[in-house]
Amino acid sequence: MIKPLGSDKLMPLYVEDDAKRAELQKEAEGLPSILISSAAAGNAVMLAGGYFTPRTGFMNAADAMSVAQNMKTTSGQFWPTPVLNMVEDASAVKDAKRIALKDPNVEGNPVIAIQDVEAIETFTDDQMATMTKEVYGTDDMDHIGVKTFNSVGKTCISGPIQVLNFSYFPKDFPGTFKTAVEIRKEISERGWEKVVAFQTRNPMHLAHEELCRMAYEDEKADGILIHMLLGKLKKGDIPADVRDKCIRKMVEVYFPPNTVMITGYGFDMLYAGPREAVLHACFRQNCGCTHLIVGRDHAGVGDYYGPFDAQTIFDNISKDDLQIDIYRADHTAYSKKLNKVVMMSSVDDHTKEDFVLLSGTKVREMLGQGIKPPKEFSRPEVAEILIDYYQSLK
Ligand code: ADX
Repeated sequence: MIKPLGSDKLMPLYVEDDAKRAELQKEAEGLPSILISSAAAGNAVMLAGGYFTPRTGFMNAADAMSVAQNMKTTSGQFWPTPVLNMVEDASAVKDAKRIALKDPNVEGNPVIAIQDVEAIETFTDDQMATMTKEVYGTDDMDHIGVKTFNSVGKTCISGPIQVLNFSYFPKDFPGTFKTAVEIRKEISERGWEKVVAFQTRNPMHLAHEELCRMAYEDEKADGILIHMLLGKLKKGDIPADVRDKCIRKMVEVYFPPNTVMITGYGFDMLYAGPREAVLHACFRQNCGCTHLIVGRDHAGVGDYYGPFDAQTIFDNISKDDLQIDIYRADHTAYSKKLNKVVMMSSVDDHTKEDFVLLSGTKVREMLGQGIKPPKEFSRPEVAEILIDYYQSLK
């Protein structure tokens, strides 16, 4: 099986042992505590589940800058994005060696993790600007990811963590939320060697579904891991429970049994395009996948990235650093001439009119009016679930 990133073994930071966890929970009650951001809580959940192997906690300023600029920590470990615990004001935990991190996403803000504080540092405005530009490719505050990254404070608390729970994810998404440890184990139990991972934050339309099928067939894979984002998204995106329902229905009706694992991970969307694609690749390798599908405008938002920037970024990444392979997909759409979904570049005798192309806005408009998009765009079973969701908003 493909090895985890930079390590022979997964390094989940969740404290598995019940007695030890109870002891830490007790200790946490007496520790200085701080309410962390949703992004930091997402990092804790990813670290807890082994997704962020070989990271052991939150980065310090030098590592965050180094990762932003070179995709390497100061000690030369490959990693594509800063993993930070940023706060507005750290005075409540000043001088403390061990602190309790409180979860902003669960009522009552229970402790999600205990952190050993190695340093508390404040980024300068220049450093913030550099990190932002390097990671997001823009410093435009209208970019939702840039805005979020720059709205949680400039002070970073670094050091290793021990995680006590997986936030709201197991309760809200039972059966779908999985750790990298669980996914790796299940892949191994199924006896799958070649596994294609599909990242998604959408209900899967026909192009998404066919993309999975194409990668599965082209790579002669043993299985597909559909791995959906369960954390926070921007306004207007479809909630995770609705997407989950759509995906389950689509797989049930259109894929043979035992070819697809439907899973999700607890992390907020960064919308960092190419850099987020590399992060996606890192944690799918940790899940035990051999391939990650990267299509058009992967993890993008607005017009900030070129449609295939999230593929070309991998050209300069060494196999020594990242072993998972990227399945690069061109813009995929239904061909009216061939009566099937194709990669648009593979059919040079087609004009734009030969494809069924609908904008996201148009699809939302149709669903909102209770109209099913054409079956060449969306499976009717999926469209029904989405129409019910849009009707429930009225
Ligand atoms: S993402 O933010 O999670 O990337 P989305 O769920 O829409 O958004 O996309 C999941 C994956 O499918 C990404 O790799 C994306 O590039 C790819 N993708 C989505 N739609 C298409 C399409 N029509 N053609 C090619 N790739 C696509």
